[in-house]
Amino acid sequence: MLTLAVETSCDETALCLYDDKEGEISSITLSQSKLHSPHGGVVPELSAREHTKNLLPLLDMLLEKNPNLKDIDFISFTLTPGLITSLVVGVSFAKALSYALSKPMVPVHHLEGHIYSVLAENTLSHPFLALVISGGHTDLFLVRDFGNYEFLGGTLDDAVGECFDKVGRILNLEYPGGPKVDALAKKAKKILPLPRPLIDKGLDMSFSGLKNSVRRLFEDGNSPEDICASFQQAVGDILEKKLLYAIEMTKVRRVVITGGVSANSYLRERFKSLAQRHSLELYIPKPSLCTDNALMIAIAGSMRFKRGKAAPEDINPQPNMSLETFAKIF
Ligand code: KG4
Ligand code: ZN
Repeated sequence: MLTLAVETSCDETALCLYDDKEGEISSITLSQSKLHSPHGGVVPELSAREHTKNLLPLLDMLLEKNPNLKDIDFISFTLTPGLITSLVVGVSFAKALSYALSKPMVPVHHLEGHIYSVLAENTLSHPFLALVISGGHTDLFLVRDFGNYEFLGGTLDDAVGECFDKVGRILNLEYPGGPKVDALAKKAKKILPLPRPLIDKGLDMSFSGLKNSVRRLFEDGNSPEDICASFQQAVGDILEKKLLYAIEMTKVRRVVITGGVSANSYLRERFKSLAQRHSLELYIPKPSLCTDNALMIAIAGSMRFKRGKAAPEDINPQPNMSLETFAKIF
């Protein structure tokens, strides 16, 4: 079964051709980060315009050496969550293709895409815990089966990726700050004191206070390198504690860590060492699959299609539908 997947939930325009037996045939991700960088964050209007401008040329590129459009069996697309202005472009594109080709379209929840992106490189059994750490989310789920998700806990304020980006802004780093903080932290000479908000409060998380403490460290003249490493260590301590707590609660020792922040080199090492010490079965996608891409949408879309789930023609994008609600509807 061949799918064309469309992902436009934020500032990456991504398409993928994927066969459920052969795997990825071709995938393209066009990042808009240079465009948004001078604004210090994603400008929804600009993002929507870029998606509109780039989707058709990207589709032409994708099909250059690949099967004809008419060979596609169904179209997978990100329905929710994301910036509504960006989602609407991808959903309209998927609808137009579905109508023109008379092929069904299959909705995907962006977080479900992140979670099942590990299937690009591994097989994975249920149940497992999924920690999604991205620019928009910091959520822990118990995944009993595909489509059977229980939200266990998450951030009460900023998402961890948002916090990385805000720390980047405080330190005058280019947007998105996450990868720059990661790189600078490698040159740190010492670790500075920072709080670990809500670390002992069950599965609730909070990152906005941490960002304010980082600002104070910077105003006090500490080096950006030391600040970055100290910040990452605090984030690592919090995420590690929450994960261990979720494992204790659920007795599930198979863990998926995914989303843009899971590309962070320090956190990846920490989670690997945690997995060794606690005998966990750990899956983290390779860094290029941690950040937004359409392969993850193709994988999750194919799983949904196999369960006979297609979208009605009048389906509309949703800016913030929870994963549990989505799974109940679709
Ligand atoms: O999953 P993603 O591409 O988009 C959302 O669904 O939000 O995640 C983007 C987030 C951004 O906040 C970005 O700064 C962060 O992932 N990120 C990183 C790294 N690479 C991307 N954060 C820390 N270290 C990295 N290496
Ligand atoms: Zn994402």
